[in-house]
This record gives sequence, C-alpha cells and structure tokens, in this order.
Amino acid sequence: MFKTHDIVISNRPKTTPANILLYECQGIGFSNYGEYWRQVRKICVLQLLSVRRVQSFQHVRDGEVSKEENTGQSNKFGELLRRLEEQFAAFCVGDTFLFLGCLDVLSGLIGRLNATARAIDALLDRVIEEHTNRASSGSDDDDDQSNKKDFVDILLQLRKDGMLGAELSQDNLKAVILDMFVAGTDTTATTLEWAMAELVKNPTSMKRAREEVRSVAKGKLNIDMKDIEKMDYLKCVVKETLRLHPPTPLLAPREITEC
Ligand code: HEM
Repeated sequence: MFKTHDIVISNRPKTTPANILLYECQGIGFSNYGEYWRQVRKICVLQLLSVRRVQSFQHVRDGEVSKEENTGQSNKFGELLRRLEEQFAAFCVGDTFLFLGCLDVLSGLIGRLNATARAIDALLDRVIEEHTNRASSGSDDDDDQSNKKDFVDILLQLRKDGMLGAELSQDNLKAVILDMFVAGTDTTATTLEWAMAELVKNPTSMKRAREEVRSVAKGKLNIDMKDIEKMDYLKCVVKETLRLHPPTPLLAPREITEC
C-alpha cells in the first residue's frame, strides 16, 4: 500500500505553527512533494551534506570549538530556535476545528507565533546581509577566502551564479537555511546529551571510550575528523545512543492528499 500510494501520503501536515514559523512551509521538511521539493532537497544533499562539503566545513567546526563563549548573535539565534521548537509543537484549536480558529487569536497564540517568526526573519535577513557584504568585499580569487565558505555563503554563491537549477526567492532561501538549522542543531545536541548521560551511567563504557579517545588524540588538545574516523568504539556509542534515544520520531506525521 505504501509503495503504490507513496506520493499520496508524502506530504506533511501544514499546521498553523508550521505555516507561520517556517515561511509558509517553503523549506524541505514541509514543502509539498514535487519539483520544488526535489530541487531544494537536491541542493542540500549535493551542496551542503556531501562528504566533500562536510569536510570543507571543518574550519567552521574548528572555529566553534575554539570559541570560549558564544557571540551575542549565536546566543540570540539559539534562544530563538528554542522558542521556535516550543511553539512549533503548540496545539492550535483551529487546525482541528476550523470554525474555532478565533480561539487561537484570542488566546494570544497566533500573536506569539507571529512575534517569533518576525524575530527569526529579522535575524536571517541580517545573516544573509552579512554574508552578502562579506562576499562582495572579499576577492573571489582568494584561495583562503573560497576555502572558508560556510553553507550560507555557498547557497548565496550558487544563487548568484544561477547554479541552483531553480529560482529561489529570498523567502525560499531563508526557509531552507532555517530548516537546516532547526533539523540539524537540536537532533545533534540531544544525541550528545544522551550519549554523555549513558556514559555517566555506564562507567565501564565511559572508561573504554575515554581510553580510545586518549590513545588516538595522543595529548593533542584539538582533535579533527581524521582522528574521529579512528574512534570505532565512540562510533558504536553514538549508534547505541541513537538506538536507545532517537531524538526525533522516525515516522513524523504525513497527510493524505487524495481520497
Ligand atoms: C542525530 C541526528 C539526526 C537525526 C536522528 C535525524 C532524524 C531525522 C528524521 C527521523 C527525519 C524524518 C525523515 C522522514 O520522515 O522521512 C529527518 C528529516 C530531515 N532531517 Fe534529520 N536527523 C538528524 C540530523 C540532521 C542534520 C544534521 C540535518 C541537516 C544539517 C538534518 C536535516 C533534515 C532535513 C532537511 C529533513 C527533512 C527531509 C525531507 O523531508 O525530505 N537532520 N531527520
């Protein structure tokens, strides 16, 4: 049944919070199955998540690790993402009983959702503006500069060069950036927290993981991807953590688009 009717049950339900917070569901996670979804997904898979790209973002990871404290902007973004996640799961009466939608306005929920959406939009506008200014002030030929691109730089560059295969509006772009942040940050952070909690609960595994890290790192303060590749036991810890505590439901809700 799932194979035959795959497309009919491919879309996710567009709830009021999803529409307000995620640019009318124009990102990857909530846009309808079709050409637009295929294009944005392809852009992210090829241009952001391919092994080559993930390796090229090493400087971003290094920068984050070496920062002693977060900058004001990333703190604010983290705070907004947490607000978004909380409000995203809010129950809107109007989504179940259309004629009672006014209750969501009267309860102040719609107002709160709009306030969060406006704050995130302003922040994303600033992020895009900063990246655009940086790109136009630096020389494209500069090797060092082109090796130091992050994924917003790459999206903007591809859009400028007309290489996206689809015309992306400013809102499309912001929806994709937001999707990648929302989908990529909390899942990873939650997994790390559970991994640490499980290791604290299991001293034998903790000892083995610590010994492996020490033997690979050999006293280095910062480890890189090549070191992590050698840490087989640590990889098992991560896999077991994901098995025990998946940070998201493996089958997020879908809606039926045809009867
Ligand atoms: C521990 C880490 C992660 C877990 C457990 C996880 C889990 C999931 C699950 C279960 C789905 C739904 C799949 C479906 O319903 O078909 C999903 C979708 C998605 N994830 Fe992740 N994810 C993780 C990390 C990431 C990261 C790091 C990114 C991006 C940087 C990301 C981006 C996405 C996107 C864009 C979607 C929507 C895909 C679509 O609808 O086509 N995820 N993830």
